[in-house]
Amino acid sequence: MSPFGAILRGVPLPPEPKGSSLSQTLRWAFRPLPFMEDCRQKYGDSFSVRFLGFERPMVLISDPAAIKALYRERSHGLPPGRNIILEPILGSGSLLIQEGTEHLSRRKLMLPPFHGERMRSYEAVVEEIVTAEIDSWPLEREFPIHSRMQAVTLEVILRVVFGFSDGPRLERLRGMLGNVLQETASPRAQIVGLATQRFGGRGPWAKFEGALREVDELLFAEIAEHRTKPDLEQRDDILSMLMLSEFEDGGSMDDKELRDQLMTLLLAGHETTATALAWTFDLLLRHHQPLQRLRDSLEAGEDDYLRATISESLRLRPVIPLAGRRLATELVADGLELPAGTDVTPAIWLTHTRADIYPQPFAFKPERFLDSGPETYGWIPFGGGIRRCIGASFAEFEMRIVLREVLTRCDLRKASPAAEKTGRRNITLSPKDGTPVIVSARRPAREPVTA
Ligand code: HEM
Repeated sequence: MSPFGAILRGVPLPPEPKGSSLSQTLRWAFRPLPFMEDCRQKYGDSFSVRFLGFERPMVLISDPAAIKALYRERSHGLPPGRNIILEPILGSGSLLIQEGTEHLSRRKLMLPPFHGERMRSYEAVVEEIVTAEIDSWPLEREFPIHSRMQAVTLEVILRVVFGFSDGPRLERLRGMLGNVLQETASPRAQIVGLATQRFGGRGPWAKFEGALREVDELLFAEIAEHRTKPDLEQRDDILSMLMLSEFEDGGSMDDKELRDQLMTLLLAGHETTATALAWTFDLLLRHHQPLQRLRDSLEAGEDDYLRATISESLRLRPVIPLAGRRLATELVADGLELPAGTDVTPAIWLTHTRADIYPQPFAFKPERFLDSGPETYGWIPFGGGIRRCIGASFAEFEMRIVLREVLTRCDLRKASPAAEKTGRRNITLSPKDGTPVIVSARRPAREPVTA
């Protein structure tokens, strides 16, 4: 074990685990939680990890005071990892990748549709999608609920964000996106993909690029069609809103940028929300008391316990493990002194499982969030500061509708009593076996509320 980490600009970084960058990356990729727990036991609140292919170590922190110092400073940039992995898919215009004033101007345009009344106007569409999904489930036969949640969240993005209504283009896009998302899903596929980028026209990367080009064609066709729609101003979908909105200098997004932002919203919003839902089912269906209490509260038309359940699930099973920054200025907090230029990220799961913030940190107890909501820098499933997830309220809103519909309409149980192990899909930590469930009874859907 090395007692100290690397030296950056004359300052020693926190200690790092022993082993080469390859062995640290493999431990991170295949056993992320035991790896982090091991580092916590050995080094405490902060330590460094060397990821393969990265020029400098990444410092992982878990103390809320240090996280606050990190996220409150707006000038920090993004560590290089995001563009290596995401730029080939999302494009250079993506909100997830842009920095500085470019980033802020896009964020101003993209935030409003995901909040308030705008967001609530999507309730009927989401309900309709979940209702149809539940109706298609088999009775007394095991199926993985994770993939069914992916179908729901994909459909929500296609309808609410892209503004598709039924039609052959939607059919094709649904199929193509399935392929593209699958290609990027496993860590093995990502490593093979990145390694074969330089083989030009052959190999998995070339196949992936071909699929991506087809998706692009469909997206550009949809954007072109949207531009001709006479009712653009009356439309609720987010693509229409982005098309109509203007930057402060009076400019607006061109087709290439619209495509990049659509891919961003798809990639950032689909797998994450589906995975958070799958984890919530895994937790709820193994904990009888919280499940019964949630059912009773839903029956009574209340949603406090539902909100607390979602907060607790995102605490115990955060879907995205890291949301880091490259320091623009020195960071000094809680005994930590890191020079400008350091790559730093909260280790989200380590923060969420601190015994000093959460008594019995590994227990599933939604009631811990009933009286007071989560603490800003101790609960960070959506990151923080000026890069905090723009879809956070929307994701929780969507999760509330899905959980309410499934739990009030279905009697379901896990196919096996064991807790799901943590696997990986894309950049998410997801239930390894897809959370197989069995539905034993299904009640009819409520009549949709009409105005
Ligand atoms: C449970 C579901 C979700 C989780 C756990 C999640 C988590 C995250 C995290 C950790 C970040 C990085 C924040 C940071 O760097 O500080 C992020 C960014 C982002 N998320 Fe989400 N997200 C979810 C759902 C969504 C949804 C539904 C959408 C939109 C449809 C979305 C769109 C975005 C975008 C555009 C960004 C980039 C923000 C920026 O860089 O300014 N996410 N999300």
